[in-house]
Amino acid sequence: LNAAESGLFDDLIEADQRIEPRDEMPEAYRQTLIRQIAQHAHSEIIGMQPEGNWITRAPSLRRKAILMAKVQDEAGHGLYLYSAAETLGVDRAELLDRLHSGKQKYSSIFNYPTLTWADCGAIGWLVDGAAIMNQVPLCRCSYGPYARAMIRVCKEESFHQRQGFEILWTLMRGTEEQQEMAQDAANRWWWPSLMMFGPPDTGEAAQGGHTEQSMAWGIKRFSNDDLRQKFVDMMVPQAEKLGLVLPDPELRWNEERGHYDFGPIDWDEFWRVLKGDGPCNAERLTHRRAAHEEGAWVREAATAYAAKQAARERR
Ligand code: ACO
Repeated sequence: LNAAESGLFDDLIEADQRIEPRDEMPEAYRQTLIRQIAQHAHSEIIGMQPEGNWITRAPSLRRKAILMAKVQDEAGHGLYLYSAAETLGVDRAELLDRLHSGKQKYSSIFNYPTLTWADCGAIGWLVDGAAIMNQVPLCRCSYGPYARAMIRVCKEESFHQRQGFEILWTLMRGTEEQQEMAQDAANRWWWPSLMMFGPPDTGEAAQGGHTEQSMAWGIKRFSNDDLRQKFVDMMVPQAEKLGLVLPDPELRWNEERGHYDFGPIDWDEFWRVLKGDGPCNAERLTHRRAAHEEGAWVREAATAYAAKQAARERR
């Protein structure tokens, strides 16, 4: 009996219940989840690089300790997510191959460079802020292991966002040069962070898209544009508190809509970055592949250790 015939899957989705690894599920649902969870995991792992770049140059011991903890959290999120993907019957080695060969994507945002210390603030504030906006609804995703992984991930992301805000808050109370550095980082990260939510729901730049099907399956709870709008509405008052000017002359409160209006997003840039032509795509993948190769001995040692333990238990 396949999932569609049993009717159980549809009943569970209809009742807003969780689908668990052993439940029957349509193959397309399984493949959509493998795609999304794997890309999410890859984003966490590749996402260690832009900030990792600043660990040796953080301005104080305290900042360095915080940044190291943050980057380690991202590694943990990646491992959680690979585990969640594995419950769908795919091997993480296979997923990593797909990342390394460019067959699977990771978030566009991590292809931009971290030029100054203020970028660590902007990433925490904007990038992790966008990640939370996108991921809190995923705690209610219809697939149990993904939804449960998201709860802890979101708690840690909230801490990341606050630490980013606090870096910028400190810089904005510093010298004129430090304030300029913070403003420059906000200028460079604002538009790419809006692109994180994915292509628009409608129009030419939408290019098909998975949203409708994923919402019907309870994987996505909001459309890309709805989450993007929520993000803008949340960030404008925070920017005002920080004393930063967001780089969009069309940004203004729309009384009628009860939301902020904002200017057009450069979707050509988004699709270019996705195709591999962003400022740091090549660097990120080269670094990732090298880290994987250099880590081969750790995987071998872990496998040998596991085999030894298993043999010992059999005795
Ligand atoms: N960067 C790279 N690719 C993207 C991005 C982005 N910011 N946004 C959309 N895409 C890709 C999609 O993966 C899809 O490509 P594919 O068919 O080859 O997989 C295509 O663009 C069309 O987009 P959608 O139809 O909107 O795709 P989807 O329904 O998967 O929605 C979204 C995209 C919102 C990113 C969704 O996958 C999601 O919520 N993922 C989980 C969160 C996540 O991955 N966050 C990573 C960044 S946060 C962090 O790591 C700190």
